[in-house]
Amino acid sequence: LKLALTAGLLGTLLVTGGAYAKSDIRIAVDVPYEPMEYRTPSGELTGFDIDLGNALCEEIGIQCEWVVMAWDGIIPGLMARKYDAIMSSMTINDQRREQVLFSEPYFTPPSAWFAPKDAEIGEPSKENLDGMTVGVQRGTLQDNYVTDVYGDVVEVNRYSTADDIVLDMNAGRLDIVFLDYPVGKSTLIDSQAGDYKVVGEMITEPKKYFGDGFGIAFRKRDAELAESFNEALKKLRSNGTYDEIRNKYFEE
Ligand code: ARG
Repeated sequence: LKLALTAGLLGTLLVTGGAYAKSDIRIAVDVPYEPMEYRTPSGELTGFDIDLGNALCEEIGIQCEWVVMAWDGIIPGLMARKYDAIMSSMTINDQRREQVLFSEPYFTPPSAWFAPKDAEIGEPSKENLDGMTVGVQRGTLQDNYVTDVYGDVVEVNRYSTADDIVLDMNAGRLDIVFLDYPVGKSTLIDSQAGDYKVVGEMITEPKKYFGDGFGIAFRKRDAELAESFNEALKKLRSNGTYDEIRNKYFEE
């Protein structure tokens, strides 16, 4: 059953209330990306995506298994059927829509610039960032944006994980970093005793890069599977579960 389980089959079983109890949907995630997805000191996966993903699976009535993957390569792994979905703070944008099918957005944070507290940097612009070294996670929309828009005036340092960005920032090797706002807030502001600050405005435009919020990605042919997640998401939004999970990780 495990191998044969396609979204179509899943849909049929759900509709008919089939006798199976557990299916096996595998969901890929890149950690650490605090507070979205990370590990507790004892090594357990936790975070907003993990809690919401588990709640969605419970609502649908399927057994989900998380698969930790590197961000770079997370979409090819979906295509290669190593897993059935990606829930990893992946922003829905047109470039990715060409490859995958997204759920409805489940969270819509901006991106933001973070720098050491005493850095004197005005509102980020080509002029103000000229000559700086910028940290981003490789293959993220933040990488694409900084590379396209500022690549001719800054040095872009690309890291495999968000944690590596923070390490190099702490080591003084970066002037500024560009991250999904909640992740910079958690890893550079909340957990670092006031050493860092947000520089400039929250960034949500242009859409070409910043897209339409975080979505769960599926293979295009798995439309029924995506639909079951959309329906479950609607349910969790209306019954208070979504807000409960949200409040656990974010202050209003
Ligand atoms: N939201 C950004 C993007 O989609 C970065 C996501 C990175 N996620 C992660 N778990 N590392 O490009």
